[in-house]
Amino acid sequence: MLIDTHAHLQDEEMLSDLEAVLARAKEAGVDTIICIGYDLPSSKKAVEIARQHEQVFAVIGVHPHSASELDAQTIDELFKLAKDPQVVAIGEIGLDFYRDLSPRDQQRTAFIEQIKMARELYKPIVIHDRDAHQEVLDIIKAEKAGINGGIMHCYSGHLPLAVDLMKANFYISFAGPLTYKNARKTQEVAAKISFDRILIETDCPYLTPEPLRGRRNEPANVYHVAAKLAELRNKTIEETGYITSRNARTAFRLPD
Ligand code: NI
Repeated sequence: MLIDTHAHLQDEEMLSDLEAVLARAKEAGVDTIICIGYDLPSSKKAVEIARQHEQVFAVIGVHPHSASELDAQTIDELFKLAKDPQVVAIGEIGLDFYRDLSPRDQQRTAFIEQIKMARELYKPIVIHDRDAHQEVLDIIKAEKAGINGGIMHCYSGHLPLAVDLMKANFYISFAGPLTYKNARKTQEVAAKISFDRILIETDCPYLTPEPLRGRRNEPANVYHVAAKLAELRNKTIEETGYITSRNARTAFRLPD
């Protein structure tokens, strides 16, 4: 059994054939999917999908790309939404200094505000970090962001950073890029860090793993991330699925 810990099922590309996507996931052994919000409407939609499908849980929050949208009213609505038992974490939140779609000041403010929200709600956080490794780590430490646990999604950093993140009570999640030929650094991290801190994800509809690159991604394809991880760790795919699913259940405090 596998868990896709990061999927955007509410994306229009996925919604058009959601039932078929979920059926294919089940067939591929993906028994649980974490649906991640990136702004208020997508967070509401994630909760709606989670209410309708017992294998789906929701994560709500505002992505750094949309950081400038995080006003007091949005925070208020996220707090209300978080009361739903299907909501297991706050995310995806963080910093994106690669695309810089929101001004960096606003990204920092939105990140810190949502860390505080997660702390108040006793929920873990799901972090998006692109080209902002050191600053993300500094904020995590200063705000005690790992106090209820957390997940660094689609990990692409080097080994020392992963070690620092694990010390701060974070899990390290690997997505499709783990299967790419040019991902030597990421593969090295996945091979070396403590296995009980590793999660797997698709980030669908983006980041389709090999050998399916070029097509739309979906939760069933987390199998290919698991297969690559199994190879790197010298384990069977069954063992890899068991360990990463157990880790995901702990990280998101999922019911058994
Ligand atoms: Ni994402």
